[in-house]
Formats: sequence, C-alpha cells, structure tokens
Amino acid sequence: MIKIYQFSYLLTPIQFTENLSTLSGRNMGTSKEIDLKRSDAFFQNLIQSAVDAIIAADKTGKVIIFNDAAAEISGYSVEEALKSLDIRDVYPGEGAKEVMKKLRSDEYGNKGKLKTYQANITGKNGDIIPIRLNASIVYERDKEVATIGFFHDMREEIEMKKKLEKTQVQLLQAEKMSSLGKLAAGVAHQLNNPLGGISLFTKLILEEYELEEKVKDDLHRILKDTQRCSDIVKELLEFARQTSQFMKPCDINRAITRTLFLLENQALFQNIITEKDLNPNLPPVKADIQQLNHMFMNIILNAAQAMEGKGNLTLKTFLNPAKDHICIEIADTGPGIPKEIKSNIFEPFFTTKKEGKGTGL
Ligand SMILES: Nc1ncnc2c1ncn2[C@@H]1O[C@H](COP(=O)(O)OP(=O)(O)O)[C@@H](O)[C@H]1O
Ligand SMILES: [Mg+2]
Repeated sequence: MIKIYQFSYLLTPIQFTENLSTLSGRNMGTSKEIDLKRSDAFFQNLIQSAVDAIIAADKTGKVIIFNDAAAEISGYSVEEALKSLDIRDVYPGEGAKEVMKKLRSDEYGNKGKLKTYQANITGKNGDIIPIRLNASIVYERDKEVATIGFFHDMREEIEMKKKLEKTQVQLLQAEKMSSLGKLAAGVAHQLNNPLGGISLFTKLILEEYELEEKVKDDLHRILKDTQRCSDIVKELLEFARQTSQFMKPCDINRAITRTLFLLENQALFQNIITEKDLNPNLPPVKADIQQLNHMFMNIILNAAQAMEGKGNLTLKTFLNPAKDHICIEIADTGPGIPKEIKSNIFEPFFTTKKEGKGTGL
C-alpha cells in the first residue's frame, strides 16, 4: 500500500531517493536498500509515464513534481519546471489562488480534494490551455505540505465537440434546404403553366383590341409582374436543382471573370471599382459551371447592392496551404452583414431587401 505522505517526499528524482532512504530507517540492510531503490524507480516511472499531466507543488508554490505529460501540454521542459517554475505561473491570473481556495473548502468534494474541475493553464508561450483538473492537498499530520494535480488536456475533446456541433447544424440546415427546395421546386413547376397563360393572354388582348392608354398601362403592369413571377420561378427551379449531371472540370477564374464582365456593364456597377487578384495556377475543379456562374452573380450582386452602387469590390482566388482546396474571397466596402442576421442568410427566402430587390435565394 502506498501511503500518501510518501508522495510529499517525491521531490526531484535525486531527492526522492534520498528522502525515501532516510525515511526507511537506520538499520537498513543492503537488500532492503536495493528494494527501495527499485521501488523509487518504479514510482518515478509511474508518474513519468502517466497519460495525464501530473504537477505537484510544495507549500511555497515551487513545482516539485512535473511529469512528461505536463511538459508536453505546457511546453516547459521537466528540468526547467523543476528548477524554477512556480505553481502560480501555471494558472492564468489568480487561477492558482482560486484552486487553493476550492481545495481548502469542503464545497467541491471533501476538504482537501477537488474533482473534475474545469480550468485553464498557461503554456510556456502564453497559450491558454483548457484542462480538467483533479487535485488534492497532501497533508502530513494535519499540516499542508504540498498539492498535487492531475491535469487532463481538453483541447481535443473541445475541438471534437465543436466540430460535431457544427456538423449537426450543417446537417439540419441541409435537410431544411433540401425539403424546402423540393417543395419550392414543386410549386414553381406548377406555377409555370398558369403564368405562361396569363402572359400570353395579356399580350393577345394588347394586340387584338383597340384600348385606352390607361387600360394598356394596366395590362403592361400585369405583364411586368407576370415576368417577375416567372423570374422568381426560374430562380427557384435553379436553386432546387441538385443533379450532378453537369459536373465538369471548370476554371474558377474564368467563371469569375465572365460573371464580372456581364455585370460590369450594368448601371449598378458604374461607380464600383473592381479589383481582381486571381491566382493563374489554380487546377480545374469539378463543378456545374452554370450554377457556379449563378452563385458568383448572386454574391457579386449582393455586394453591389450592399454598397448601394458605390465602393470597392475585391475578388481573390488562391490555393490553401495544403493545396487541396481552392479559396475564393469576395469582399466589398459596404456596411457588412449585421451580426444578428448572419445565422439566417442561408435560409431560403430570407431577405432584408425591398420587394422586387431580393428574393432571399
Ligand atoms: N455583401 C453583403 N453585405 C451586406 N449584407 C449582405 C451581403 N450579402 C448578403 N447580405 C444580406 O443577406 C441577405 C440574404 O442575401 P441573399 O440570400 O443573397 O438574398 P437577397 O440578396 O435576395 O436578399 C440580404 O438580404 C442581405 O441582408
Ligand atoms: Mg442576393
């Protein structure tokens, strides 16, 4: 059985041996000495090879145990930590004080113990590292002699949790888009015929009858609105199209340049300065070029509308450092997307624009 007080004597590796030897009595024979040395080595090995970081400090705050996992998570070497690290430097701010306060109170488990406490430690380079801490005060005849903490690195777990949450949100969003898209496409399809009818018969009336100017104006208004309905229907059908039959290797830069060429002649773009920084060495990507053009058209239009026709539009393409993704950056000097609507902008039909300006698709 390991008695806890022996732990408080585990100072530096050398002191550890000396202390245990002195502890173990004067009449120690040679074989006992060897046994003790063996157990010293064994305990040291146990601490050093633990997966979680183990850090112990004496009453003054001086670090007296610091295993390999502690070195790995913190960036301090075992030697430098044992030589000059103070436990107060391990926690950011007043963290060490906080831990001691909790350890001494009996509100967080038994007095002298702290279980699964979420905290941060500061790495050598100043990084804040989230950890889960199990700690205890080491007593010797009711007197505090040291504290020992077992630190579990939470970075990977937190990262995984974040990724999982993100994927869940994306999945939900995709599902929502897909069902909304299908519904919308169905409705759009149904609307096409009657819209065609309205448009055709309005044109017929206009052509075949002698009409007052006022009536003609009204009929033209009907035609214009019908055209707008048709445009929305077309957009909806485009939006819902999810087939991959048109997937071919595409030149992203060309798609951007082409879209820009079409848009730059529009009145809305007369006072917009466009800057292109397109990497000429991009590999082709497999995509539906029509959908790509459509997408660029929409994003660039969004930018021009946000800038109200005046400002700078920057388009940049580049390869990510791993060279397995093409990155496209489109920026405008408009007011930006307000924080409170950021989570809504990909929802079908979400728009902040006046009727006739935006459909939210
Ligand atoms: N470049 C931008 N700057 C500021 N707000 C933007 C920008 N692009 C999009 N938005 C906001 O996101 C909303 C949704 O955009 P979108 O889905 O393209 O629909 P729409 O353009 O038809 O409104 C816009 O109504 C606008 O409020
Ligand atoms: Mg838009």
